[in-house]
Amino acid sequence: MSPTTGLQDISARANGAAAATPLHVAIIMDGNGRWAKRRGMPRVLGHRAGVAALKRTVEGAPAAGVGVLTVFGFSTENWRRPAHEVSELMRLLKAYVDSDLDRLAREGVRVRVIGRRVGLAPDIQEVIERAERRTADNDRFVLQVAFNYGGQADIVDAARQFAQKVERGEAKAADLDEALFESMLSTAQAPAPDVIVRTSGERRISNFLLWECAYAELVFQDVLWPDYGPDHLAAAVAEYQGRDRRYGGIAADDVAVAG
Ligand code: IPE
Ligand code: IPE
Ligand code: MG
Repeated sequence: MSPTTGLQDISARANGAAAATPLHVAIIMDGNGRWAKRRGMPRVLGHRAGVAALKRTVEGAPAAGVGVLTVFGFSTENWRRPAHEVSELMRLLKAYVDSDLDRLAREGVRVRVIGRRVGLAPDIQEVIERAERRTADNDRFVLQVAFNYGGQADIVDAARQFAQKVERGEAKAADLDEALFESMLSTAQAPAPDVIVRTSGERRISNFLLWECAYAELVFQDVLWPDYGPDHLAAAVAEYQGRDRRYGGIAADDVAVAG
């Protein structure tokens, strides 16, 4: 996308203009542990290499025409991992913001972090808030980091928020529809993902963007995340471009012959 393309252009495209290029790509960055294991290294070194892959991919995304990139960094289920691995994943988020925030801010990237803040240590909450505050006025590119994120947790949080409005007398149950519900999800500020990529060869969603994936194209790439980069992103975009998105309707070519 050109450096002048802003979020208004992003929402115009999201509102139905034909988009050959996926505006919003979401990635389940998977395979760090296996990458390390194959090298006889501890898993945490796979996560460190994964951060380098993230930096390469973020750098390459605007050139691939992507306006919003959402990456799954830590799931609500990842707390089940050994404590030292969890603390390394926390440390890496902090180190990423500390090392890259200036550059991201300068380059017009808006950083948003989705997921539950409750349960994160105060220093992690602080670094998330700092990244969001510092880049709040940027609109060239959006980087959404899903951290302590779970699709089910996000849906439950939205449902709780609506129930509280009803309890306070600010809404009625009959008011609830898809648009209102969606507005209460942590992803409400971004258009729905056009494509969800998962690396490492696993073929599952693992609690990522459960509501938002309704009409996303799914692309599975066999590369382990630490080996990922702009060429793999370009390949995912090319695969997406070969898909026929019908949203429950029929292909444009078939309308004339539908009878
Ligand atoms: C993805 O890599 C990173 C996170 C889940 C934080 P994994 O750590 O899941 O790597 P594998 O799946 O064990 O190879
Ligand atoms: C999903 O990967 C979470 C992230 C990439 C952050 P996992 O590796 O945790 O998922 P499962 O356990 O294979 O389903
Ligand atoms: Mg994994």
